[in-house]
Amino acid sequence: MSLLRLAARMGRIQPSATLALTARAKELAKQGHDVVALTAGEPDFDTPEDIRNAAAERLRKGGNVGRYTPASGLPELRKAVAEKFKRDNALHYSAEEVMVSCGGKHCCFNMVAALIDEGDEVVIPAPYWVSYPEMVRFYGGRPVIVDTSGTGFVLTPEALKAAITPRTRMLIVNSPSNPTGAVWSADDQRKLAAVLEGTEIAVMADEIYEKLVYDGQHVSFASLSNDAFNRTVTINGVAKAYAMTGWRIGYAAGPKHLIAAMGALQSHSTSNPTTIAQLATLDALAKDPIELPQWRRQYQQRRDAIVAGLSAIAGVKCAVPGGAFYVFPDFRAWMGKRHGDVQIKDCTSLCEALLAKVHVAGVPGCEFGAPGFVRFSYAASDAELAKAVQRISKFATELA
Ligand SMILES: Cc1ncc(COP(=O)(O)O)c(C=O)c1O
Repeated sequence: MSLLRLAARMGRIQPSATLALTARAKELAKQGHDVVALTAGEPDFDTPEDIRNAAAERLRKGGNVGRYTPASGLPELRKAVAEKFKRDNALHYSAEEVMVSCGGKHCCFNMVAALIDEGDEVVIPAPYWVSYPEMVRFYGGRPVIVDTSGTGFVLTPEALKAAITPRTRMLIVNSPSNPTGAVWSADDQRKLAAVLEGTEIAVMADEIYEKLVYDGQHVSFASLSNDAFNRTVTINGVAKAYAMTGWRIGYAAGPKHLIAAMGALQSHSTSNPTTIAQLATLDALAKDPIELPQWRRQYQQRRDAIVAGLSAIAGVKCAVPGGAFYVFPDFRAWMGKRHGDVQIKDCTSLCEALLAKVHVAGVPGCEFGAPGFVRFSYAASDAELAKAVQRISKFATELA
């Protein structure tokens, strides 16, 4: 037993399951196995060349690129983010209502830290992104999980109403969604906004997949009404739209006092996000990447191919996701079956068996609050996706 006892709050969180499975798949690949890893949540494209070249030039020139910036981000970047929100989302924020953090995830963390006290409740529609409940629990809050698998992965106003108690402090809205890819329409969201009117419930609108929509249209929750605007923190970043996951830049916009509180917290934790990454984001945000339409076309083709492939397998139901780059098929009909010596008792044992037997890696739905489902990322080549479908089909024929 170590001398170093961990803080009690560490017992409330688990390491990211997505990263753990990705690591296992990589380990198998290193041992020489031909693994199709569809676990990671990042584009398989390079950061656009003009952004990389501009960053290289800035580094060559030196100067402030090697220095700290204000904790909440470069003033010109906060202004550029406010411009982006105006241009793309009809949201009118001042630069003081915007802050820049080390990724969209960091924005979410700052927001939860700034708002959630012990015992506060946060309504999280399931399936949810794995990190939301962990962040809430870390700060002593209580995630109130609302299952949306019976309503097309859309939270209904009735379900929201039923989940609200006097302790409710926040609702999380993530459209397009990770893991389901569901895109909530303006009408879906307007009904939720109406339920919140007259309450003091904050909304975290995580819009990181905004640019990756194939059916329907992205709508920012904060754009629905004045009331929605005043209670929402809109979170976005460059990771998914610009294929810049490794640069670690996200941004948040919302009520000035809340953004200031999140900035104060950040000033004592990470200080500023990396200066060169902020400058690269400044270059990026001037316009959508020229590659984006092409990426979107490719994602959509891959989506159509993997949905068709999975849907043709006996017992698998696969909804067509409107956005992001994930499919979230329902494997509940496989639960209780056997594959050779392995009993498929839940989605975790299914994912373990798929990885061990046919070398296809996906993430178990129970990690996202949806037992019996599996998330596959289609940010992978056509050939890899075809191979995955073919192997899962083969696995299916061997089930008893
Ligand atoms: C729903 C959702 N929100 C936020 C993020 C975080 O993105 P970033 O890389 O900017 O931290 C992710 C990344 O996977 C995500 O899926």
